Amino acid sequence: MNDKIKILGLAGSLRNGSYNRAALHAAVKLCPDTASIEVFDLNGIPPFNQDQEDPLPQIVANLKEKIRSSDSILFATPEYNYSVPGILKNAIDYASRPYGDSAWEGKPAAIMGASIGMLGTARAQYHLRQIFVFLNMFALNRPEVMIPNAADKFDEEGNLTDTFTRDRIKELVEALVNWAIKHKKLLQQ
Ligand code: FNR
Repeated sequence: MNDKIKILGLAGSLRNGSYNRAALHAAVKLCPDTASIEVFDLNGIPPFNQDQEDPLPQIVANLKEKIRSSDSILFATPEYNYSVPGILKNAIDYASRPYGDSAWEGKPAAIMGASIGMLGTARAQYHLRQIFVFLNMFALNRPEVMIPNAADKFDEEGNLTDTFTRDRIKELVEALVNWAIKHKKLLQQ
């Protein structure tokens, strides 16, 4: 298997100074040579409307194509009111439609998250794992990367300055690459 593992990175925040987007960009830099991470910006995904499933909005069709052509997905989710932000859930819902044509089917995935609070998105991450059950996505169990007190871990330009967090993100990306390779091999059997 010589092909690079393709990872699609999705951040659940549209904010310019988003810590989660910054964490995703840190993951891109920490990605091993055996893989690549492409970040898809969820800005512009319209609110889901079941009247607009056929045809899908072009940006949703693009997202679905990116998901399908990726070997795995890396989510960086904020925590909003103890759950995932609406923009992330909205994008997940849209890309799962129309019924029977979900782009998420069978995808290996990993989750990380950054929060200004002390639990580092733990509650949102477990909600996201629950969503994966119906989508039939295969969540990597470990390592769990929860980045608390995010304001202390990134500089003004969004560079990750915390060594401990950098090491955890590196471990996560490496584990996701191995997870995706295992799934690829299973599919080839
Ligand atoms: C938050 N925040 C937050 N933090 C947390 O740890 N638990 C929570 O339940 C919430 N709830 C919440 C709701 C809403 C509507 C907002 C806007 C914010 C704070 C959150 O961690 C903080 O805004 C992060 O900076 C969001 O991530 P990004 O945008 O920096 O990636």
